[in-house]
Amino acid sequence: MPNVFIETFGCQMNELDTELVSGTLKEQGYSLVNSASEAKVVLFNTCSVRELSEQKVLSRLGIVRQRKLSGEDVVVGVIGCMAERAGADLLKKNPFIDIIAGPSKLHEIPALLKSRLDQNGPIAPQLALSNFKARKGPSNAMETEVDLEALDALRPSLYTSRGSAQAFIRITRGCNKFCAFCVVPRTRGPEVHRSAQSIIDEAKRLVENGTREITLLGQTINHYFHRDESGKLTSFADLLFRLHEEVPDLPRLRFLTSYPRDFTDEALDVMASCERICKYLHIPAQSGSDAVLKRMNRGYTREIYMSLIERAKAKMPGISILGDMIVGFPGETEDDFEASLSLLSEVRYKNVFIFKYSTRPGTVAARFAEDELPVEVKNARHQRMLDFQNEIALSHHVSMIGKTFRILVEGNAKISPGDNRTVRLSGRTTGDHIVAFDGPQSLIGQLVNVRAEKASSLALVGSLVAS
Ligand code: SAH
Ligand code: F3S
Repeated sequence: MPNVFIETFGCQMNELDTELVSGTLKEQGYSLVNSASEAKVVLFNTCSVRELSEQKVLSRLGIVRQRKLSGEDVVVGVIGCMAERAGADLLKKNPFIDIIAGPSKLHEIPALLKSRLDQNGPIAPQLALSNFKARKGPSNAMETEVDLEALDALRPSLYTSRGSAQAFIRITRGCNKFCAFCVVPRTRGPEVHRSAQSIIDEAKRLVENGTREITLLGQTINHYFHRDESGKLTSFADLLFRLHEEVPDLPRLRFLTSYPRDFTDEALDVMASCERICKYLHIPAQSGSDAVLKRMNRGYTREIYMSLIERAKAKMPGISILGDMIVGFPGETEDDFEASLSLLSEVRYKNVFIFKYSTRPGTVAARFAEDELPVEVKNARHQRMLDFQNEIALSHHVSMIGKTFRILVEGNAKISPGDNRTVRLSGRTTGDHIVAFDGPQSLIGQLVNVRAEKASSLALVGSLVAS
């Protein structure tokens, strides 16, 4: 069987998709390799959220094109969000692409690949797309739900690329929010939810195979709800509670990404009362200015956002809050930007993913072209916000010095090596703080206690404490 290489761009959803596609291909007998040059089949699992992510894929395609031109029969697939967003156009400009499959059609990849390989040479490209933008409505959502179960519920051989200690489970796919800047509703389609039972079964199987931390994934995860055949409704709060109770051997459960409007008190109460649910919320604000939030079509004001953060902090003192911010949205004034900075200090985020606004074709914000900001303004605001957030992160880390934390050991640390007998390992607290320490390699995948001793804005360094 031919070797396959899959390169993943973008978010955790894509990481999980790659894992699931890799698993199905392995089951069919393909071998997965770590570099494109050794592979007969090269798949790019793409991201469309910013233009930069798409440019990277175009440059990768340039390289495989050269291989094809020099006569190599390499099979090239573009899968994921960019395939869905721009598939037909991509093919027109790059007719050598063999397979194009959108995020809701990934379960078709083994069949698409087989038919391409059986032909043993160039044939018409294989296209699997949903064309969400052309077809809105319930039938579209129902079809997507079937597709979702086809890929996720049959998680093949429990193959996890993150190592068996950590795993993702998707509970929701797609998004109905249509924020003015975002392509996701057009690439991943309408919001659909998996059945609670299938999620719980998947979690149990993972834990039986050694998983210690599960991260539930969804674009607007706290909007989860599912009605089973008997009409019984499972809310997000119910799902968290059932997972906590029915998978008692799972030490850590977390979830991302939350949408600020959709949090019920019930869900926060379940988080607060269930010991093994991490006190961790990734809840993007995008801006601290009401005027910008309105143009972004985010559906909340700064006050509504802050009231949720305060409710969460009141119920869970010490909770880690993570966010996403966009700088340089069309028409963002200096005052709007200052409002975003002041939101950072008001929330005191543990970490913020800061993005320079990037115009995406087909979105509402693409029509605000006359208000676009110069790239130098975006760059300068980006740097200012990074510096500002780094100080906040450093102060969180400094306040942790001298305390002992439970760490899930993830692997070898990138920062400075330990001595000969031990290696420098790194892991995370339940609040997602990175801690490096020296210890034996055998601790990878284990939960250990570590006392924090030194801090930087990125991470802590500490030493092992007897459990
Ligand atoms: N709720 C989703 C968000 C998907 S996009 C999830 O995390 O699954 C991830 C982040 O990319 C967004 O929160 C936003 O901050 C950023 N983003 C989305 N579209 C963007 C654009 N056009 N330009 C810059 N950043 C963008
Ligand atoms: Fe994108 Fe907004 Fe949905 S950021 S994923 S449209 S909540």
